[in-house]
Amino acid sequence: MSLQTQPRLVTLEGGEGAGKSTVLAALRDALLAAGDEVVCTREPGGTPLAEQIRGLLLDTRHEPPAPETELLLMFAARAQHVRETILPALRRGAWVLSDRFTDASYAYQGAARGGDVELIAQLEQRVVGINPGLTLLLDVPVEIGLQRARGRGDADRIESESDDFFERVRAGYRARATAEPERFRVIDASQPAAVVAAQAVAQLHAHRETLR
Ligand SMILES: Nc1ncnc2c1ncn2[C@@H]1O[C@H](COP(=O)(O)OP(=O)(O)O)[C@@H](O)[C@H]1O
Ligand SMILES: [Mg+2]
Repeated sequence: MSLQTQPRLVTLEGGEGAGKSTVLAALRDALLAAGDEVVCTREPGGTPLAEQIRGLLLDTRHEPPAPETELLLMFAARAQHVRETILPALRRGAWVLSDRFTDASYAYQGAARGGDVELIAQLEQRVVGINPGLTLLLDVPVEIGLQRARGRGDADRIESESDDFFERVRAGYRARATAEPERFRVIDASQPAAVVAAQAVAQLHAHRETLR
């Protein structure tokens, strides 16, 4: 089995406050300026049903999900997202920019939560089936990212995890990037936002050129 690479699926990964949402807007603007169609989306979420699952995952009012529940809900949301939002957009030739995708499950449910990585790989193969053409990892020291994210106000369930948890997330992402250097570009996201955005746009333009 193997994953089908989708050249026009571009994903942004990184911890809390790395700057994913900020960079996503810059990438969207660059593609629109080039005259391309672009769909911006996020995980968990990206369809009305998947956004409801996101609500379940991030809510702190009920008991915390067991790690296995969290993993399966993430993939349930992703299954819906791929079928309802991502594949239809790619089929009509649009770019899809996603704020997180399957790599986030390897980093959060796998590396940080200690989940079954073989199960994650099976779900990726059998339920998701596709891989991004380009993944930008916004890498930032945990304390800097958390400081930025806390500026946004109330923390959700995952944002309330320990610093150790986020160190494992960061290490998990970096290991993924090292293992798949053709797909990943790692950007030092401790730099000023304008510099990070410019480097991300340059990587996207370079990738776009390879598709022409
Ligand atoms: N490179 C940067 N330097 C300083 N602040 C940043 C940078 N990138 C984003 N920010 C700010 O940090 C906060 C979190 O950024 P955001 O894009 O929401 O991160 P994420 O989506 O990865 O959680 C926002 O207030 C944003 O304006
Ligand atoms: Mg964000």
